[in-house]
Amino acid sequence: MITLPEKYIPLNPDVENFLAQTHKLYIGGEWLPAQSGKTFPTIDPSTGRELTQVASAESADVDVAVTAARRAFDEGPWRNRMTAAERSKLIWRLADLIEAHGEILAQLDSLDNGKPLNTTRTDDVPLSVDHFRYYAGWPTKIEGATIPVNTPGMFNYTVREPVGVCGLIVPWNYPLLMAAWKIAPALAAGNCIILKPAEQTPLSALYLAQLFEEAGFPPGVFNVLTGFGHTTGAALTEHLRVDKIGFTGSVETAKHIIKASVSNLKRVTLELGGKSPNIIFADADIENAIVGATWAIFGNNGQSCTAGSRLYIERPIYERVLQGMADEARKIKVGPGMYTEQPDIGPVISREQLDKVLGYVDEGYAVGGQTVTGGKRMGGEYTEGYFIEPTIFTQVDDGARIAREEIFGPVVCAMPFDDPDEIVKRANATEYGLAAGVWTRDLARAHRMAAALQAGTVWINTWGDTDAASPFGGYKQSGHGREMGKEALDLYTEVKSVWINTDG
Ligand code: NAI
Ligand code: MG
Repeated sequence: MITLPEKYIPLNPDVENFLAQTHKLYIGGEWLPAQSGKTFPTIDPSTGRELTQVASAESADVDVAVTAARRAFDEGPWRNRMTAAERSKLIWRLADLIEAHGEILAQLDSLDNGKPLNTTRTDDVPLSVDHFRYYAGWPTKIEGATIPVNTPGMFNYTVREPVGVCGLIVPWNYPLLMAAWKIAPALAAGNCIILKPAEQTPLSALYLAQLFEEAGFPPGVFNVLTGFGHTTGAALTEHLRVDKIGFTGSVETAKHIIKASVSNLKRVTLELGGKSPNIIFADADIENAIVGATWAIFGNNGQSCTAGSRLYIERPIYERVLQGMADEARKIKVGPGMYTEQPDIGPVISREQLDKVLGYVDEGYAVGGQTVTGGKRMGGEYTEGYFIEPTIFTQVDDGARIAREEIFGPVVCAMPFDDPDEIVKRANATEYGLAAGVWTRDLARAHRMAAALQAGTVWINTWGDTDAASPFGGYKQSGHGREMGKEALDLYTEVKSVWINTDG
């Protein structure tokens, strides 16, 4: 049994039992150890201590999982004999089970990721349930068309079919939710899945596999391989019998995945990072904008693909917004996500991310940037964890690395602007295009900006909203394809065109 720091919320007994288990790979409806026998630790980022060990899948395990998923897809009942209505009911049942076991999943994600239990209880888990419920309604509504072709006697129609075996590779910032974004539409379309959770946060995915079993999914429809990117992830993306990879993570890894996908030209969809511009005009509701811009960056500790990390403030209100944000940022309680006295945000995910983020902070200072608040790792009782103060930089040029590159931590660059017509060019001068925000009371300007910004999502007088029903994804190097909504079904289906000679 693991011992947790005394200020931690007592663990749910099922979580305690789960952590004490030997964690295996979930393949073809069975729990199998990695063939190499290798395991690796998952770490609590609030303490740097090991939570438990999980199996480390390598290419031999990937091969067994692909064979199981392939068999389930090619020969099993899931796609070949079950009706759409039956698949729909199973997905809904899974959603009910996730809801019923929500406290366990919330605790596992909070332990593994460090984020507050309040957040996993009220956001990550309920949003995952919503996601499965939204897509549970889709199997019975995925339709083809009849096409009025220009050939006498020919009847032409389309059918939407599942792509096949999908390798879903997800990150650690919202472990359960990022998995749900991919699993739910893939299931709704009738695919079979191999989920590879991030090595930093494998626990909720393993627990989810138990719920798939309890819901009664046929074996092989859902498989979980825990392991590292360069082993498990790479073997999945190279595998000749995997039809599709759905990925969320870094641009660098996405480029490796595209290269590996050349093996069989598998389909690839990518949801990547950003350096999202957040633009506050002088005519905005300033108090709302201050709170909104603060949480746009510090929500989830800046570890969001949509973090509002480039802040542009119109000159007349620059000082006021900056001071307001600094006051807000200083009020943010940072601490272990499992503390009885709940913090607002937790640590960053790992030692590696801590070093990366602090490296950017050092570089910000080195190029003449100044911080109005934050700028340091937190000490005292937090020394063992990976805690960083919410940090606001000023005196930074658009061209500086900290203003251009994704930091993925609690660091924002606040920059003034003078010309409302020029700001679109500055906002769009990035290789990314995931999200953008605009704060203004001028409705015409809001619409002009929404049209001009090169981003998959534009938020006006708000930030960070997503919904299972609304498409989400990136322009430029922020990705390929749109997740969520009916758009996600395009990612998980092939269209077949059937010609019938009715004369013959
Ligand atoms: P990563 O993109 O390397 O990892 C994400 C997932 O990809 C993990 O499951 C990992 O095991 C897997 N992976 C890694 N290398 C792979 C490979 N060669 N083939 C197949 N799968 C592979 O991200 P990482 O290293 O955790 O974080 C680095 C940076 O990436 C962060 O600082 C942040 O800037 C960005 N990032 C962006 C995310 C987003 O939501 N857009 C999420 C996580 C990270
Ligand atoms: Mg990586």
